[in-house]
Amino acid sequence: MTRLTDWLEERTGLPSVLRKILEEPVPGGARWSYVLGSSIVFVLAVQALTGVLLALNYAPTSEGARASLAFIQEQVAAGRLLHGVHHWGAGAMVALVGFHLLQVFLWGAYRNPREATWIVGVFLFLTTLAFAFTGSLLPWDQNAYWAVQVGLSIVGTTPWIGHALQRVLQGSAEIGNLTLTRFYTLHVIILPIIVFTLLGLHVYLFLRRGVTPHWSLSEEEGKHRREPFYPYQLARDVGIMVLMLAVILWLAITFPPMLGAPADPSRAYEARPDWYFLFLFELLKYLEGPLELVGTLLLPAGSVLFLLAIPFLDRSPSRSPLKRLPVVVPMLVGVIGIAGLTGKSLLVGREERRAQRVEEVRRAGVLEEGGALLREQPCLKCHRLGEEGRDRGPDLTHYGGAGRSSEELIAHLKDPKVLHPNTIMPSFAHLPDRDLELLVEFLRLQGVD
Ligand code: HEC
Repeated sequence: MTRLTDWLEERTGLPSVLRKILEEPVPGGARWSYVLGSSIVFVLAVQALTGVLLALNYAPTSEGARASLAFIQEQVAAGRLLHGVHHWGAGAMVALVGFHLLQVFLWGAYRNPREATWIVGVFLFLTTLAFAFTGSLLPWDQNAYWAVQVGLSIVGTTPWIGHALQRVLQGSAEIGNLTLTRFYTLHVIILPIIVFTLLGLHVYLFLRRGVTPHWSLSEEEGKHRREPFYPYQLARDVGIMVLMLAVILWLAITFPPMLGAPADPSRAYEARPDWYFLFLFELLKYLEGPLELVGTLLLPAGSVLFLLAIPFLDRSPSRSPLKRLPVVVPMLVGVIGIAGLTGKSLLVGREERRAQRVEEVRRAGVLEEGGALLREQPCLKCHRLGEEGRDRGPDLTHYGGAGRSSEELIAHLKDPKVLHPNTIMPSFAHLPDRDLELLVEFLRLQGVD
């Protein structure tokens, strides 16, 4: 064993690097609050691994994308789990990076001499969001298509360069095959290169200056009250990694990502983005006309500039959050705003989905009962309904109300002569009102999807 270590030491120096890492003093002693950084690296590794495994069977073409994901879910061994882990891993990544940013902010760890670490960190945060956005198109179902449509039109509102940028990302005048291949290239080639470069830089800068102790300790005090990284900090880091993996697996099994109907540019769809972009989606509902630019450009760009400027705006001698109000207050307002909008959107979304389900059930009921009533009546002696009926009157298969109101239709059923004085269609005025209403509702829903 010693001979092997000596051999390695002489040729690579790795054993002493490892020893140095394990013995690296942790200022202020081991803490749970230091685990976020390593758990982000861990989830990134999970994403890289599951991403490569997904890429083995994924086809980035508008014809093949959704089908290949369906194939992964249904045919590939543990494919559904794989897709689920990558999907929820992305959410975990955004959440962890967000918390890490907030924690570093609260600790005041962005200050001299760590400004560069912070700035690289802000770019890592943006890269994470870019990963999430480009990844969201890849399932190529209705929701993916229309959510990215919204995202790209936001990009398009940027003054001067917006249009060109949208065009480059989109690849053509419409979202299509080229958009998919471009997003895929970004997602699996360009963004990984960026993220690993920035991460390397970030960790290098971090290791140069070490952890910032809790704000109640000065850097000097932190240096005195310290523990080596191994074993207590390492144990906490590993503990959190195991916990993260368990949570992601649980989410992937309990809420596997569903594939919606295939993307169809001709059929508009009320898309909802993933939870981490909901706040923007909700915000844009309130901002219309020229105000829209506030949500699509001013607030996002302003927030990024603010984040980058924090180390230079904060001139307080103390790291305590209460003594740094000029930066803490705007940050707090931003975080509360984002949390509030996200919460609102999640609640509204639940209401909407419930209302939608109720409506679906009602529709199904009308189609069933109304259809039964129509078949009891002599309607199909003259009208066609799908395979049934005859062609003496107009085909009702795709009728959908034909733009007539319920009142007009009821009046017509009661007295068909209003439409055509010489009609062969008999009057149905003898039917009870309830039945007439049901028939008319059925006619209005018939053939509409
Ligand atoms: C004896 C044949 C006959 C029967 C029975 C009949 N219809 Fe008609 N219906 C027609 C004909 C023919 C027309 C075409 C317009 C006209 O001549 O009035 C028509 C028109 C309609 C229209 C209007 C289509 C449009 O132009 O928008 C509706 C709706 C309709 N029928 C529904 C019904 C329903 C519901 C029943 C059963 C309750 C029924 N019809 C029974 C022959 C019939």
